[in-house]
Amino acid sequence: MISDRAYLWLFPPGQAEPVVCGVVAWDGAEYVFRYGKSYLARPDAIPLSIPGRPLGELTGEPYVLDHELSGAVRDAAPDAWGRRIIQREIAKTLDPTGKAPYRLEGELGEIDYLLGAGADRIGALDATDRPDAYKPRTKPIRPLADALEAADRMERGQELDDDLDAALNHGTSIGGARPKVLFRRGKSWLVAKFSSSRDTLNMIAAEHGAMRLAAKAGLTVADTRVLGVSGKDVLLVRRFDRDTDADGHPTRRHMLSAMTLLDLDEYAVRSGEASYLELADVLRQYARDFERDGRELFRRMVFNILIGNTDDHARNHACFWDGTALDLTPGYDICPQPRLGYSADLAMTVGHQGRAATLNNALSQAERFGLSEHEAAECVDAMKRIVEAHWKELFSAAGMEAGDIEYLAKATILSPSIFD
Ligand SMILES: Nc1ncnc2c1ncn2[C@@H]1O[C@H](COP(=O)(O)OP(=O)(O)OP(=O)(O)O)[C@@H](O)[C@H]1O
Ligand SMILES: [Mg+2]
Repeated sequence: MISDRAYLWLFPPGQAEPVVCGVVAWDGAEYVFRYGKSYLARPDAIPLSIPGRPLGELTGEPYVLDHELSGAVRDAAPDAWGRRIIQREIAKTLDPTGKAPYRLEGELGEIDYLLGAGADRIGALDATDRPDAYKPRTKPIRPLADALEAADRMERGQELDDDLDAALNHGTSIGGARPKVLFRRGKSWLVAKFSSSRDTLNMIAAEHGAMRLAAKAGLTVADTRVLGVSGKDVLLVRRFDRDTDADGHPTRRHMLSAMTLLDLDEYAVRSGEASYLELADVLRQYARDFERDGRELFRRMVFNILIGNTDDHARNHACFWDGTALDLTPGYDICPQPRLGYSADLAMTVGHQGRAATLNNALSQAERFGLSEHEAAECVDAMKRIVEAHWKELFSAAGMEAGDIEYLAKATILSPSIFD
């Protein structure tokens, strides 16, 4: 590891200037977070997580964040894609000639990654190496076409020149596994998601089509559109964690992933330990409006079953947290995952039959989401009819070719197995 401590800054709700709220450090055995005294003394200080979770109480006691960082701090750190780019960036500073490429995997610590992500990271937290003044780590914005080419070359293991390298830097601040960059266009903050050389079909069209379909089925989702860049399709997703105050200054919204709300680590998320039912319980306890969010979560789960989105893991759900109540964020990263087998599991527990992606399983514990049996059945029925009636037309309008649509129709979208 290169750095062993980072100062955490929060943009308080509605405010354009951040305050330093605490420090994360490696103590030789594990990562530990402490709220700063000056933060604890502020009348407007908010705990960075819900009660009972790491950082959930405003106290001077240390929070142990294990070996990988956990909770709200983990949510502010980059994921697979951002880590790859940070490794490249740090390797370059260690060897500017690039002639003897450093292999940094395993050598960098979590704090290096936390510091390495830029100030445009998701949510309202940022991390710097100094507590006294906020010096955001911003990077010049490069043309999207450069970032696209750079991402493509990097995935193929090809060399990047300095310009292309710089263009990718806006991808370090964001989670997720797929190639992407963050950028701003006019007054909008956007995530640009690229296709991956590993895709078997047009996943940009699939995600855009699925997000439009979700909106049509009555879900609240992030706005998306497809943009042609250098002959390739790029998915633009409007960020919901950025806003502006009355004077036009940018403000941020603090977010917690379902992984954090459920107190899980990456390993537990990947091995399917997360549960929609437990997430609904958290909402019942802390949501500003459980009737609204419990129902919305149920409908997102049902929608994922209908379209075969089995990548609905606990980092693909999140809530805004303002220190007093949770509000489910708009839906994001909703996309069918092509499959050929008959049945499938979602990534989180659905009902009495565990993760089984069937509508009966979804209905089996609807009361946990605050719905009566009758309401839940009506909900499922209405959503099923909308998906049946509109999916092909919306996926086609999103740019998907007939062959890909046929492929998804075989076993992915409205798969016969979901009616078991
Ligand atoms: N519209 C948005 N506004 C704010 N934050 C977002 C938005 N879309 C995505 N994010 C954040 O960025 C992260 C990565 O985005 P996304 O999940 O779309 O990427 P991905 O690479 O497809 O992810 P995965 O690894 O699940 O395949 C999300 O986990 C979420 O924290
Ligand atoms: Mg994701």
